[in-house]
Amino acid sequence: MRIFATSDLHTDFRDNWLLLKGLSSTLYQNDVLIVAGDIGHNIDLIKNTLELLRAKFKFLFYVPGNHELWIRGEGHHSLDKFFTIIELCKHIDVNTSPLELENFVIIPLFSWYEKEFDIDEDPNLDRLDSWSDFYFCKWPENINSIANYFLSLNQKYIKPYSKKVISFSHFLPRRELLPSREWLRFKALPQVAGSIHLDKQIRAVNSTIHIFGHSHMNWDVTIKGIRYIQNALSYPRERINREKPTIKLIWSDEIEG
Ligand SMILES: [Fe+2]
Ligand SMILES: [Fe+2]
Repeated sequence: MRIFATSDLHTDFRDNWLLLKGLSSTLYQNDVLIVAGDIGHNIDLIKNTLELLRAKFKFLFYVPGNHELWIRGEGHHSLDKFFTIIELCKHIDVNTSPLELENFVIIPLFSWYEKEFDIDEDPNLDRLDSWSDFYFCKWPENINSIANYFLSLNQKYIKPYSKKVISFSHFLPRRELLPSREWLRFKALPQVAGSIHLDKQIRAVNSTIHIFGHSHMNWDVTIKGIRYIQNALSYPRERINREKPTIKLIWSDEIEG
């Protein structure tokens, strides 16, 4: 068995859909694919993309990203949509909760970004009002912290596991996984990128590998004993002159036994 990772599929771009469609239907039938969020906002597109990948892999794991929770014309709010997607996943055999497989456990972790993630003392917020989530996500009034709400959904799974743990989330769990502000094109990104409390959950389950997405910046780095990997398909324009593999092999029993 092999485990592959990807994120930020954004299949509303036809090129992205075609890249996924072009993945072999036979090569991965004994393998796992982890999709760390951001397929798109259209529910039919989310379903079609998950079904396309489900047929190619033995197991498919997924958490919704921020794009999935955009409400565009629908009457309900983003949490309704989140749970609609989770229910959809149950019907098409896509895992959104932990599952033990052979000698490891794969743990999906729900998350949202929080401002504490941004450690700069004098952040440049000039351009944050252009962030689409603030227009397209609609939250119930009784939620104080969206980040805390999603982390609370994980709480029942936060415990030590006897098997090797591989976890994943859409958002970033550590500030080191984003370049310093001077290198960022969108200077306000650290405000809407991650959650430091998410990393506490990752460490509490004793994760060895954590997959994440959202920033569309690929990483493979070990920090304090945990290997953090992003392999984002990203937008077609972001692939120009940059290698962006559709899926990345992150673990194989042929290598590790
Ligand atoms: Fe994305
Ligand atoms: Fe995202």
